[in-house]
Amino acid sequence: MTPNLQELLTTILNSLIDLCRCDGGAVYVLRQKPNGTQVLTFEAMVTRSKGLQSVPKKVQRMEFKVDEFTIVGKTAKTRRFVNQTFTDHIEVLDYKTRNLLSGPLLTPRGELVGVVQLINKGAVPGKPEQTVEFDAHDESLFRSVAGHAALAIENSFLLQEQEGLLQGFVDAFVTAVEARDPVTSGHSKRVADLSMELAYAVNRETTGALAAIKFSDEQLREIQYSAMLHDIGKVSVNESVLNKEKKLYAHELDQIRLRLELIKSQLRYADTQASSIDIRRQLVRLEKAWTEINIANEPTVLPEDVSVALSELGKFQLQLTESETLPLLTEDEIKRLSIKRGSLTDAERREIEKHVTFTYEILRKIPWSRGLRDVPKIAYCHHERMDGSGYPQRLRLDEIPMQGRLMAICDIYDALTADDRPYKRALSHQRAIEIIEMDVKAQKLDQNLFRCFLDSKSYEIVRKISAKGKKAA
Ligand SMILES: [Fe+2]
Ligand SMILES: [Fe+2]
Repeated sequence: MTPNLQELLTTILNSLIDLCRCDGGAVYVLRQKPNGTQVLTFEAMVTRSKGLQSVPKKVQRMEFKVDEFTIVGKTAKTRRFVNQTFTDHIEVLDYKTRNLLSGPLLTPRGELVGVVQLINKGAVPGKPEQTVEFDAHDESLFRSVAGHAALAIENSFLLQEQEGLLQGFVDAFVTAVEARDPVTSGHSKRVADLSMELAYAVNRETTGALAAIKFSDEQLREIQYSAMLHDIGKVSVNESVLNKEKKLYAHELDQIRLRLELIKSQLRYADTQASSIDIRRQLVRLEKAWTEINIANEPTVLPEDVSVALSELGKFQLQLTESETLPLLTEDEIKRLSIKRGSLTDAERREIEKHVTFTYEILRKIPWSRGLRDVPKIAYCHHERMDGSGYPQRLRLDEIPMQGRLMAICDIYDALTADDRPYKRALSHQRAIEIIEMDVKAQKLDQNLFRCFLDSKSYEIVRKISAKGKKAA
């Protein structure tokens, strides 16, 4: 239960104690356990003669069944007042209870949410045995105040349910998106864990540029949801582009292979008809072609000699008819195989970059509660860079919120170190840090946040969680 609810219930309990003139009391909340059974647990406790204003640790985990065997259980079961005076006294927690009024907490819809007990009416400091019985007037006072306590508990449950529902939707949404892009699965959760770890580290800073920044609980939740959902827009990106591992797709490569074999067959046939040095030279040249094409197809840096080979191979033609020919490599294929680094053309890169705008468009349609209203804006910034070289808004410096800058570092770190992409080897922690450091030096990423990321070892959270997961598996 939230501390706010405990504070509120303690205040309400104190009002009841004042009104009924007793020494103390307790509020129990009815909860459902995972196995479906209902139990009552302490949520607030006051004993004025002992100066107690909260539930002592040793009884915090105590549970009472809804049955006739305890007064609190009986009150919950019958939903009626139990007004009892003990001929001697009963002693619980080193405290002598001489009389007690126990009443149900019912919401306006008649739902039981807890029980309140008031104890030792009329007790005065120094003379605890001087008590008087609770009466019908106390019960009516109880009824007038108990409704507030019942509503407070119900609201708190509703908020918890709402939060659980939102978390459930977010998890389901992320699972659906990552199912389309299985090789990056787990990325969103890891970026959220890293971002939260870094945000906590920022909150702990006491000196330097970040000392003045203190993320509130709501802002921390906002960071968590923004990070979980930052790549949600990938749901709108063409799946083949999203999962593209090499410069050409497999079916395109198959067609090139077919053209190559046909050209070689035609050359061999021509050689049998009228052998020439030129034909044999061409056949020798084509021996290496398949290997060269495959090297060029890799997303790694394109070797200079392979780049030259591509333009040579572009000259080979397959004779379809007397007047029609088909090149071994089309202009478009040569252009794509000539990409200097990576597997994407400019158009494909732009297509993938659109995921950020899609993320924003999707998230801003959600009616976020007040405390989470900046989730779309923060997620929208995860590819922005402080020198204006990011996308899609090309924001600069302070135009990028601190939460967005924080997430950018965590997003890059995970993309570089994740070992879940078959076509891209995971970089070591040290190499990833060196690469991020280059961006920090180029004033693309926030240097203070990066320093905090290193000093606090926020990055270790990913290893800790994955080690835990492996242990549990
Ligand atoms: Fe992204
Ligand atoms: Fe990302």
